[in-house]
Amino acid sequence: MLKDALQLLKTRAPGFVPRVAVVLGSGWGGVTEHIVDPVRVAYADLPGFPVPTVAGHGGELWMGSIGTQAVAVMSGRKHGYETGAVDGMRLPLQVLQALGCEVLVQTNAAGSLRADLAPRSLMAISDHINWPQRSPLVGQSGSERFVGMVDAYDPLLRQQAVELAALQGLALQSGVYAWAFGPQFETPAEIRMLARLGADAVGMSTVPETILARHLGMRVLALSLITNMGAGLSSEHLSHAHTLSEAAAASHTASAVLASILANLELN
Ligand code: HPA
Repeated sequence: MLKDALQLLKTRAPGFVPRVAVVLGSGWGGVTEHIVDPVRVAYADLPGFPVPTVAGHGGELWMGSIGTQAVAVMSGRKHGYETGAVDGMRLPLQVLQALGCEVLVQTNAAGSLRADLAPRSLMAISDHINWPQRSPLVGQSGSERFVGMVDAYDPLLRQQAVELAALQGLALQSGVYAWAFGPQFETPAEIRMLARLGADAVGMSTVPETILARHLGMRVLALSLITNMGAGLSSEHLSHAHTLSEAAAASHTASAVLASILANLELN
């Protein structure tokens, strides 16, 4: 499947070598508007790519440039809660790495656990808590599976992201992301627990892909768009529709900031 998907991409975009792979979560779809001369390939045409089951998540791979940066952008990802399997992004990431990507930029929507991290703000992930303790590397062999997770979120890429966001007038905070398996939202007791354990935000994605990317030796940058306060921290009623409407409200700014980060990111 890897060879077939790679071959198809090479045929559709001859000679195109992206160095940055991007995964767009809820609220981040506007990033694709910043891609110049995109070549779009439906996941359905790419063996092993996830056909989306979640409203608000696209299902296309976009190849093109943002500024001078050649990027491969996945609009939509596979989540653990869709099937129970947490390795659904292995093949897509292997394909993108084989195409040339050295860096994985991830985005998601998340709930805030911190009073000073308000809905519609952005957070750069500095570390994560794998609350379900599930790994996409189960079943792999070889000593490479024992991946170190210190600085899994590349400090140099994050520093650049913070500086580039500041140039856009946006104070990008850093924080710890806790993975909740979902698809149900958390209880207020779970939110209090996660906050005490040191999490700043909570969401249902990103962590498996970070583990996969580190296993592949890719550097990771990840940004969360805060769509709500965690359950019990405000009077908001949590629902997927609420996530999507808050994400839509902040989407323009988030996408513009990420496009500027991608255009200016220095990789070495
Ligand atoms: N919890 C889990 N995932 C989320 C949330 C939340 O509050 N908001 C957006 N994604």
